[in-house]
Amino acid sequence: MALADQVFNFLIPSVSKMGVGAVKQLGATAKFLGGKKALIVTDKGLFDLGIADKIAELLKADGVEAVIFSGAEPNPTDLNVRQGVKIYKESGCNILVSLGGGSSHDCTKGIGVMANNDGDIRDFAGIDTFANPLPPFIAINTTAGTGSEVTSFAVITNTDIHVKMIVASARITPTVAINDPTMMVGLPAALTAATGMDALTHAIEAYVANLANPVTDSLALGAIKLIVEWLPQAVANGENLVARDKMAYAEYMAGAAFNNAGVGIVHAMAHQPGALLNKPHGVCNAILLPHGCAFNLIACPQKFADVAVAMGVNTDGLSTMEAGEKGIEAIRKLSKDVGIPAGLGEIGVQESDIERLADNAIKDLCCFFNPRKIKLEDLKRIFKEAL
Ligand SMILES: NC(=O)c1ccc[n+]([C@@H]2O[C@H](COP(=O)([O-])OP(=O)(O)OC[C@H]3O[C@@H](n4cnc5c(N)ncnc54)[C@H](O)[C@@H]3O)[C@@H](O)[C@H]2O)c1
Ligand SMILES: [Fe+2]
Repeated sequence: MALADQVFNFLIPSVSKMGVGAVKQLGATAKFLGGKKALIVTDKGLFDLGIADKIAELLKADGVEAVIFSGAEPNPTDLNVRQGVKIYKESGCNILVSLGGGSSHDCTKGIGVMANNDGDIRDFAGIDTFANPLPPFIAINTTAGTGSEVTSFAVITNTDIHVKMIVASARITPTVAINDPTMMVGLPAALTAATGMDALTHAIEAYVANLANPVTDSLALGAIKLIVEWLPQAVANGENLVARDKMAYAEYMAGAAFNNAGVGIVHAMAHQPGALLNKPHGVCNAILLPHGCAFNLIACPQKFADVAVAMGVNTDGLSTMEAGEKGIEAIRKLSKDVGIPAGLGEIGVQESDIERLADNAIKDLCCFFNPRKIKLEDLKRIFKEAL
């Protein structure tokens, strides 16, 4: 079959530091990037644990001053971004350091966009909407995870309409990503499970996405194998540093895969309970993942059979469709093993929310990358099934 014109980009941070002890290189890295005064952007939880202060000490040890902004809320908002950029400018900062999971990184991305471009964060929703690059930006990751330390997207809630805006640009990618598993040992079991299932969702959605290519495929399948083996162990014992390290690699690989291949129906749907009802991103994805895969199965059965194999399913003697179905069963089992709630109803989503959730999901940018065309009626039905 002849191929039509189709160019694949591959974007990740310029430098990625992985492994135990990577965070100790923060000060030297900030200095190398010309940092004189850093804004550390984090959330209240990590601030209260004293972790932001330790990061400030690491910077100061290398002669880089630091100011802490701990106002990145889970599912960060336009209000958080505006508050952060005010502090960045008033304090005379010239480098950004995000500390946390997707919420801290995304809030920092928004701050970086507004720091160097005239306008409000809402003006920059969409693809390549601003001209000036961000200040130097180091993302220290503490969940495994959203992959946001790798990606060229920021997901910010518009607080007027309770919809997640996506700001997408190669320019928004952090300059340096730090994935040090010692930063992840304190993550409680439920959050470890939720964020790990988010990473699995990235890997599977990227593998079947419209923009998948051999580079993203190998990262996605590699991530799936690591997650199936190591997520239950990280949930069982958060201090298992080997499991944390493997999960850090897995979420990074899944992030690199979906940054370039895209995600699909699961994310388009999961964004909505996140924005409208402030429900945790990973849990929404984990609940919706088997439903989204079942919907997509007929669009690319061989890909789902590959997912099954990566998940450790014995597919000998099965048809391609049967193998794909077994893979979806394996996803359900993994979710159950790590303690993910069985349905959206368990986390407070109600049947009366479905109309609005579906109306917003159909407009989500992620629908564009999904291998099967999505109709509004499909979304309503799947939300209902996932309740
Ligand atoms: N930009 C992207 O590419 C992308 C991709 C997927 C998701 N997201 C976004 O990311 C956000 C979710 O991020 P998340 O799932 O990483 O969670 P999060 O950043 O919201 O953090 C969740 C909670 O975990 C706590 N926490 C984080 N690390 C910890 C640690 N090491 N020890 C103890 N507590 C810790 C935080 O204090 C917080 O209370 C959502 O807004 C979602 O839309 C973005
Ligand atoms: Fe995600």
